Amino acid sequence: MRRGRRFAGEFTPPGDKSITHRAILFGLLASGETRIRGANAGEDCARSAAAAVALGARIERQEQHWRVTGTAGAWQAAPVPLDCGNSGTTLRLLAGIVAGRPGTTRLTGDASLSRRPMRRIAEPLGRMGARLEGAGETCTPPIDVHGSQLHGIDYAAPMASAQVATCTLLAGLAASGSTCVTLPGPARDHTERMLPAFGVALEQELLAHGGRSVRVAGGSRLTATDVDVPGDFSAAAFALAAAASEPGASVTTRHVNLNPTRTAFLDVLRAMGASVEVAGEQVVSGEPQGDVTVTGPERLRAFDIPAEWLPRMVDEVPAWAVVASAAAGTSRLAGAGELRVKESDRIASLAAGLRALGLDCEERRDGLAVTGGSAHGSPRIVTHQDHRIAMAFAVLAARLEEPVWFDDLASVPTSYPAFFATLESLGAELIPDDVRDTA
Ligand code: S3P
Repeated sequence: MRRGRRFAGEFTPPGDKSITHRAILFGLLASGETRIRGANAGEDCARSAAAAVALGARIERQEQHWRVTGTAGAWQAAPVPLDCGNSGTTLRLLAGIVAGRPGTTRLTGDASLSRRPMRRIAEPLGRMGARLEGAGETCTPPIDVHGSQLHGIDYAAPMASAQVATCTLLAGLAASGSTCVTLPGPARDHTERMLPAFGVALEQELLAHGGRSVRVAGGSRLTATDVDVPGDFSAAAFALAAAASEPGASVTTRHVNLNPTRTAFLDVLRAMGASVEVAGEQVVSGEPQGDVTVTGPERLRAFDIPAEWLPRMVDEVPAWAVVASAAAGTSRLAGAGELRVKESDRIASLAAGLRALGLDCEERRDGLAVTGGSAHGSPRIVTHQDHRIAMAFAVLAARLEEPVWFDDLASVPTSYPAFFATLESLGAELIPDDVRDTA
């Protein structure tokens, strides 16, 4: 991967991954046929689809629509382990579903998922009456979920995690009484937007510091609905980062999700001096979407991200690192300890990659300080099989004349199968032998 020409053009990103997972799994629980338009066709969502089929849903995948025929809550026990691949969302949401009925379901994943902490869902599900067995203190996969007849709880989650909230609310659907989850800060709210479309009433209260509490009544039934999936902002962020990093480059992404719990990266780009224009904003299937054009300024300014912005850009930190490495001065990020338990330890993966490119980067316990400069050398970037690390360094490479090599790019289709075709159409030069194992 290396520079071809100045980035320019427009693209439609893949369907939003978080929204697709939810549409599939809520469709599994619903009665009737859920039609999902614009579903994310990556490997993560395919894992949720395969698990839904194993639990008794019927899924027909057509070019434009996926049709999910649900089980009306009567999902069947899976005779074999459900392989969640690389997908934390698949595992955590499924655990909330299968916890709600007696019987044991084994949830497995790849090497990366097998290192990720599941204690955060074992805790609320355990309090509701299920038992999760995993390895070690942090309860890593494979996970045996011993389901049972659950009872509702009021649960204050220690971290503002949408996955934990959704897992607990899904378990709450099958529990006696009501279940309330309180998050200590902002987190994506796709579940809260989508469950009512499936006919489930939620009681919500917004709290100080952007947190919220959400209550669901046990025994609530889901009815199938149509879901129009907007483009994935987190996937689009990489090409937007490339545009922001080059004077005069300009890229437009179409029909991208603009849910305010996801878009702090646009505020960061503006603060760094890039031009960000949003057009054609509308609400579709309960989610705001629109077209975003980012144009690179003559010189990007460094910017320290306010701690309270971070929850609205958790998945955009790799894209941010690309922009920060092109800015004048040092940009800092703090309060990002959660990044250490994503598909890889993203703080360490980013720091190592930036340094391999000769850039100045300080790794902190819960953040990074990145000083802009000219990247050089033809290093081999280690992606740790993390799709967002791979995509971040691919767009960074797309502004360099010298080629950058990667140990592995096979993780990219996890979320964005057409990523390289899109990058090429916008100006990057792909090198046929882009993955070179020099180890
Ligand atoms: C997701 C929530 C976030 C995010 C992940 C997808 C979701 O994780 O990082 O990529 O779909 O709910 P946390 O809930 O752990 O913050």
